[in-house]
Amino acid sequence: MKSKSTKPSRTKKSTATTKTVLVIGLGNMGSALVRGILKSPLKDSLQLKLFDHKPELLDQFESVSGVERLSSIKATGVSTADVVILCTKPQDLPSVAKLIAGKIKPSSLVISILAAITTDKLAQTLKFKGGIVRAMPNIAATVGEAATAMCQNSHCNDTHMELAHQIFTSFGTASWTKESLMDAVTGLSGSGPAYIYMVIESMTDGGVKMGMPRPLALELATQTVLGSAQLVQTTGLHPAILRDQVTTPGGTTISAVHELEERGLRAMLISAVATATEKSKSLAQG
Ligand SMILES: NC(=O)c1ccc[n+]([C@@H]2O[C@H](COP(=O)([O-])OP(=O)(O)OC[C@H]3O[C@@H](n4cnc5c(N)ncnc54)[C@H](OP(=O)(O)O)[C@@H]3O)[C@@H](O)[C@H]2O)c1
Repeated sequence: MKSKSTKPSRTKKSTATTKTVLVIGLGNMGSALVRGILKSPLKDSLQLKLFDHKPELLDQFESVSGVERLSSIKATGVSTADVVILCTKPQDLPSVAKLIAGKIKPSSLVISILAAITTDKLAQTLKFKGGIVRAMPNIAATVGEAATAMCQNSHCNDTHMELAHQIFTSFGTASWTKESLMDAVTGLSGSGPAYIYMVIESMTDGGVKMGMPRPLALELATQTVLGSAQLVQTTGLHPAILRDQVTTPGGTTISAVHELEERGLRAMLISAVATATEKSKSLAQG
């Protein structure tokens, strides 16, 4: 199993031949994914075909060069695609399968971001025996900062994997992992933005409680989360070391750290990831 975690290679040259990529579903994630690709050098080597049954979602890509908006998926939309990216809700897979099952070229790559849908289930539902990459990005794709983990089935070749990696690093970081960890990925980084929004909201309320105007409190809380995350990423230091560096003996921070420990902040977050993982597993089974 390959395991690779990479920072976005935004200046990397893309594959030489033009590939046709069909994206199905242009909601939050589908449109973020397309925007990410369009902002990256990868766009020069891809011909994007977009499909969603809501015309207003297609309209956001009107007059964008290198993008074709499909008003329906005719056989040609699928059979000419080198890559098919599924960005609908998991429960919409049967309706997508009605449109594309059995029509995807055997040499093509199917990429799915559908939570809790395994590569085996995709292969079976889409009647497709080729390469499948299952990926779990998160909503930070919208600002080019997604954290994505991906796994592949046994029919994926190196070209498939390189292409999938290029697509997901065009709007954030992307790591390969094994499929058995994809529910945990959902519990950590797929759902994770919601946990961090709650942290930002609570820190903001703390500032407001202490008399701060809300806009100032929100700005300080948001930038504190952003800057702290960047410090972890750029220094490569363990978060505990960074925390110790800002914890003066007898100071304010250690008093707050004690409070957080007493009230179980860390245990709560560990449990949150575990609970979301279990939920993802149960959805997969159901
Ligand atoms: N949102 C997140 O934070 C997040 C994070 C990681 C992964 N994901 C995964 O990303 C996927 C998409 O999530 P999302 O939040 O982007 O959902 P979304 O906003 O609901 O977007 C899905 C889009 O696909 C359309 N659609 C449904 N069936 C279709 C069909 N047969 N043909 C064409 N278009 C169709 C939907 O239209 P209708 O609304 O009319 O059905 C909608 O516009 C999900 O599977 C989710 O598990 C989401």
